[in-house]
Amino acid sequence: MHPSPLQDRFGRIHTDLRVSLTDRCNLRCTYCMPEQGLAWLPKPQLLTDDEVLRLVRIGTERLGIRSVRLTGGEPLLRRGLPGLLARMAALPSAPELSLTTNGVGLARVAPALAGAGLHRVNVSLDTLRRDRYQELTRRDRLPDVLLGLAAAQAAGLAPVKVNAVPVRGVNEDEIPELAAFAVAHGYRMRFIESMPLDAQGAWERERMVPAEEILERLRERFALEPVPRRGSAPAEEWRVVGTGAVIGVIASVTRPFCGGCDRVRLTADGQLRNCLFATEESDLRALLRAGADDPAVEAAWRASVAGKGPGHDIGGAGFRRPDRPMSAIGG
Ligand code: 5AD
Ligand code: SF4
Repeated sequence: MHPSPLQDRFGRIHTDLRVSLTDRCNLRCTYCMPEQGLAWLPKPQLLTDDEVLRLVRIGTERLGIRSVRLTGGEPLLRRGLPGLLARMAALPSAPELSLTTNGVGLARVAPALAGAGLHRVNVSLDTLRRDRYQELTRRDRLPDVLLGLAAAQAAGLAPVKVNAVPVRGVNEDEIPELAAFAVAHGYRMRFIESMPLDAQGAWERERMVPAEEILERLRERFALEPVPRRGSAPAEEWRVVGTGAVIGVIASVTRPFCGGCDRVRLTADGQLRNCLFATEESDLRALLRAGADDPAVEAAWRASVAGKGPGHDIGGAGFRRPDRPMSAIGG
């Protein structure tokens, strides 16, 4: 079957699906959620494995989805994850499969994930200093994350990407060190501008470190040359001159890339979002549980994408925070 593309009214074609598998997390990053955590979704509201698999099948078979990224919360907290991955990888329409994780539980499961058919991982790591890691995530788990990174690489989940969100006065001084660490280990470093998606609503523009400044700090340590940009990829990439190492900067706030966006998102409770910053969701779980057939689910999905706006305007006068924080949407 040749699916007709999932196109919106601006001509953007959507081939990437982000699936949040849980809104829970075993860390409490200060830029993401409060110490006590959040009111987690009750289990009956979460999509079951069968439901997730069905939506991934419909997306890949009927809508032209080609890559699926599993996120959270922390997706490794989802029970039976290797089994679910294996089922996705076994679909005749199997997508490319990647995972975004905080890396805490990665060392133990990396081989099983790779064996199940996972292709790549992105691991969040904002600091290399143990005391600072504990302050920032409110958990003393840096050694586990470092083991997780090594295990992912050993399992062939390559290129292993490391995501860091620099925050002024917290870890912005570590930008060159983080990059040097990634280069030395053969990981691909990516710095992400912080977005107003924390649960507390405490984001301040002044604490966001803009891409321009991230690059300035990187240039103190490295000679960088731009890598030609690929269509919808959010990262602007830079090669460290004379090496194969590539460093990415994701300027979501100061240089938004909405014009090339090819992503749709499915929350852990089965709501389709056409944007991280969408203020409306489409309830696919209700459809599934009401016995809808594949064409009906496909139609709802297409309608959601048809209603996608041109982009966000973080910090602009008309900007409205989404009703859910990032941990409940999926990054
Ligand atoms: N702004 C930017 N990035 C964020 N992340 C989590 N919260 C935010 C935010 N408010 C990052 C995580 C992870 C990725 C999925 O998104 O650190 O690396
Ligand atoms: Fe967990 Fe990611 Fe939020 Fe940190 S940023 S608390 S790792 S969901």
